[in-house]
Amino acid sequence: MNELRWRVPLADVVVDDELVDAALETLRSGWWSMGPRVEEFEREFARFCGAGHAVAVANGSAALHLALLGIGCSDGDEVVTPSLNFVAAANSIAHTGAEPVFCDIVGPEELNLDPEDLEAAVGPRTTAIVVLHYGGFPCDLGAVGEIAERHRLTLVEDAAHAPGARWRGRTCGTIGDVGCFSFFSNKNLAVGEGGMIVTDDHELAERLRLLRSHGMTTLTWDRHRGHASSYDVVARGFNYRLDELRAAVGLVQLRRLPEENAARARIASRYREALDGKNGLTMPFGRTGDERTSSNHLAVVLIPEGIDRDGVRTALTERGIQTSVHYPPIHTFSAYSSRHGRALPRTDAIASRLLTLPMYGRLSGEQVESVIEGVLNAVVACRR
Ligand SMILES: Cc1ncc(COP(=O)(O)O)c(C=O)c1O
Repeated sequence: MNELRWRVPLADVVVDDELVDAALETLRSGWWSMGPRVEEFEREFARFCGAGHAVAVANGSAALHLALLGIGCSDGDEVVTPSLNFVAAANSIAHTGAEPVFCDIVGPEELNLDPEDLEAAVGPRTTAIVVLHYGGFPCDLGAVGEIAERHRLTLVEDAAHAPGARWRGRTCGTIGDVGCFSFFSNKNLAVGEGGMIVTDDHELAERLRLLRSHGMTTLTWDRHRGHASSYDVVARGFNYRLDELRAAVGLVQLRRLPEENAARARIASRYREALDGKNGLTMPFGRTGDERTSSNHLAVVLIPEGIDRDGVRTALTERGIQTSVHYPPIHTFSAYSSRHGRALPRTDAIASRLLTLPMYGRLSGEQVESVIEGVLNAVVACRR
C-alpha cells in the first residue's frame, strides 16, 4: 500500500511469512473459490463476535446491500442513517429501492448519530436504521435500540470500522438485528476486498447465504464434494461470494486483530494526550466512559474553525505525512443533495474541520511523534 511516497502513510499492512504461507498454501490446494477456508473464516469470525451466524461476502458494501435486502427493505421504504458516513450505506439502501433519510451527529465531541435527531427523522415509511460506529467508536446503542424497538424498526450496524469494538461488553455488529463488516485494505482486519455479515437470526442467515450466491440451493463446493449434483434457483440473488485466498488471509488477520486493536489504542491515546486542546485542536470521543471500547479504526482530529484544512494537509504532505477526510457528508454529494430535505447543522458545522491522521498498529513511536509535531505546526502556520 505504501508506495514509498509517504514517510507516514494513512494506513499500512504487515506482510510476513505467516501471511504469505497461508496464501501460498491456498493457491497450491487448487481450490480457490468459496470452500473450506471461507467456512472456517465464518465460524471463527462468528465465535470472535459472539454471533450465532457469520456470512462471508465479497466486500463491506455487498454486506450492507445483502443485509438490507435480507431484512426486507424495498421500494417505498425509508431507512435512516447518519450523513457523516462512507457512501456505501446510502448507496446500498438506494439499491434496495428504499430512500435513505439522513440524520445529524451529536456534535464535535461525539461524531456518531444523534438519537434525538434519529427519532425526528423517523416517519410512517421508515422500516430500518443503519447506524455507523464512526472510526470504531460505538454509537449510543442503548438509545438507538430503544427507538428501534418503540417504532418497530430493524437495526442494522455498519460495523466496517468496528471489528472488536465493544459496547457494554458486547461486540459491535451483534447488538442490532444484523451487523456488516468490511475487510478492505485499510481496515483493522484487512484482506484486500472482503466483508462479513453477522446475525443471531437463523432464517436471515439462510436468506443471506442464498442471496450471496444467485439464490442457488447448492454451491460449486457442494457439487465438487459430491454432496449434490444439481441445484434450483429459489431467489434472484447475486455473486457476492468471498474466495478462499482472501479467507485464508482473513483467518490470519483475525488471529492478529486483538493485538492490532491494542496497538491502535496505544497510538490513539498518545495522539489524544499530545493534540487534544492544543493549538485549538479537538480530539472527538474524549468522554466515551466505561461502556464503550473503540477499535480505533480512525484517528480524527478537528482543526480550529477558520483554518484552511487544505493548507494543513499540504503542509503535512510536504513532511511525507498522508492525511484524509472521513467523510465529506453524504447529503452534500450530487447524487444525494437534491433529494435531501433535512437540516443537519452539527454535521455541516464540523465537515470542514475533520482531519484524519495516520493510524495502523505498527506505526512507530517516531512516526507518531512526527505526525503530532507536523499537525501542531501546520495549524499554527495556517492561522497566519
Ligand atoms: C463505514 C463503511 N461502511 C462500508 C464500507 C464499505 O466497505 P467496502 O469498501 O469493503 O465495500 C466502508 C469502506 O470503506 C466503510 O468505511
